[in-house]
Amino acid sequence: MGKPRKTPETLRSHRWYGAADLRAFGHRSRTAQMGYAREDYAGKPVIAIINTWSDINPCHTHFRQRAEEVKRGVWQAGGFPVEMPAMSLSEPFQKPTTMLYRNLLAMETEELLRSYPADGAVLMGGCDKTTPALIMGALSMNLPTIFVPAGPMLRGDFRGETLGSGSDVWKYWAELRAGRIDEHDWHEIEAGIARSPGHCMTMGTASTMTSAAEAMGLTLPGAASIPAPDARHAQMASLSGRRIVDMVWEDLAIRDVVDARAIHNAVTTVLALGGSTNAIVHLIAIARRAGVALDLDRFDALARRTPVLANVRPSGAFLMEDFYYAGGLRGLLGRLPDLLEGSAQTVNGRSLAANVEGAPVHRDDVIRTRANPLVAHSGLAVLRGNLAPDGAVIKPPAMEPRLAHHTGPAVVFRNYADMAARIDDPALPVTRDSVLVLQGAGPQGAPGLPEWGQLPIPRKLLQEGVRDMVRISDARMSGTSYGACVLHVAPESHVGGPLALVRDGDRITLDVAARNLALEVDAAELARRRAAWTPPKPHYARGFGALYLAHVTQANDGCDFDFLEEGAATATPDPEIH
Ligand code: FES
Repeated sequence: MGKPRKTPETLRSHRWYGAADLRAFGHRSRTAQMGYAREDYAGKPVIAIINTWSDINPCHTHFRQRAEEVKRGVWQAGGFPVEMPAMSLSEPFQKPTTMLYRNLLAMETEELLRSYPADGAVLMGGCDKTTPALIMGALSMNLPTIFVPAGPMLRGDFRGETLGSGSDVWKYWAELRAGRIDEHDWHEIEAGIARSPGHCMTMGTASTMTSAAEAMGLTLPGAASIPAPDARHAQMASLSGRRIVDMVWEDLAIRDVVDARAIHNAVTTVLALGGSTNAIVHLIAIARRAGVALDLDRFDALARRTPVLANVRPSGAFLMEDFYYAGGLRGLLGRLPDLLEGSAQTVNGRSLAANVEGAPVHRDDVIRTRANPLVAHSGLAVLRGNLAPDGAVIKPPAMEPRLAHHTGPAVVFRNYADMAARIDDPALPVTRDSVLVLQGAGPQGAPGLPEWGQLPIPRKLLQEGVRDMVRISDARMSGTSYGACVLHVAPESHVGGPLALVRDGDRITLDVAARNLALEVDAAELARRRAAWTPPKPHYARGFGALYLAHVTQANDGCDFDFLEEGAATATPDPEIH
């Protein structure tokens, strides 16, 4: 990298521990209070382990133990590990949505690293928003950083049948509502669908984002695919602890790793995985923190040339455990050398190309060949039109192909409560050709851009056998979901985007091939509706919610806070005043 190696005197932590002044005395005496002798830490890199373990986060239940394994590696390599708990964004429990708090965890990560004597950081995350949040905060602080992904949980089981997180919940919920399974079956599914530590084991947001982190160069090679309970996961944690100490001496900072090449590799990887649409929002936010330009059009352009090779649910058939045994992410990336920026740097000091070269694939049905992809291209598509001037997204492989070009009358729900109250009303004027529209579900409208975009199919249509229909919202969708769901419509309805002007019966056209989303209402009528539109009241008047509403950007801009998304790395404190 051309940077001089760090010495004990040039470590950031030297200002806390090494100075001959009263403040350093305080730091050393208080470290002694915790039971450490001077030789435990003097002159050593202080490694902050940012751990998102929590009793309320089932995906991170193993992180207490994994943090100990990281510490073991840090000690072995001659560092001083300091575990720092950070807010755990627990996807199943946190309301209204973890997305409301992604930026708060990013801020917490940045501020923990800034305010304490950290020379390097180990980020421990995996459950959906934890991964982008930790990386965003670390990018702003720009210390040597390595990511330890939580790893996917084991396959779910229901009477010998494999169950996948999320995807099979939606599937069997629809079957229950249609009367094809009973409550007893439903309880058995509840007990068997999440049976080990680890994040969702479909290609949901968690698997997508931890894989993106690996493709970005932020993990040891192969780390993201290892199932959470596997002994190799514990070994990876320990090796990550060893490696971060060397990264500090090498002064290999996170922005040395995450550059335009790394972002390109992350986007390409998400596309080749058939990954979650949520990754679009997160990667735009991450890229901007790294000072790299990234927009929706770049996703669409790369999607047109990138095949989906991962045959993993919800787009495919298998689960992350199968993906790991088949060769994991290294195996998949080894099949894409021409589509990747192989020279990109990674945390182990080698290039991405060197890390994946010759990686074996053991099952071509799980990790498809280039000659036999799951989807030839366009695993994601970016739509525009008068209904989404700033863009919207859809995941074509996860929808019924007959809906890829569809025109139908709108059935409009003003907000989630309105939808929940009326969706199963037998009198709802809805047919299989209708287009379901949900307003008020965006970053400001919901608030927090929740995963409401997979609107349920009305019960009366389920009973007729309908399993997919066109649904449009300014919300996100769980990465484990599927269906003809147009998401992230921007600008959102709450701030006056055209989605706010849609009325029952308006005809809407979705044309995926043409990348078009059109509201078939003439401009004069839309102007009349706009003149009559009044902005809804904001949801929060105080607290973090008020900060969020004042500064969150729209989905096409990554939903970061406007005052955080760009700018130089935060300066370390003045040694005279810290
Ligand atoms: Fe944590 Fe899905 S609930 S990753």
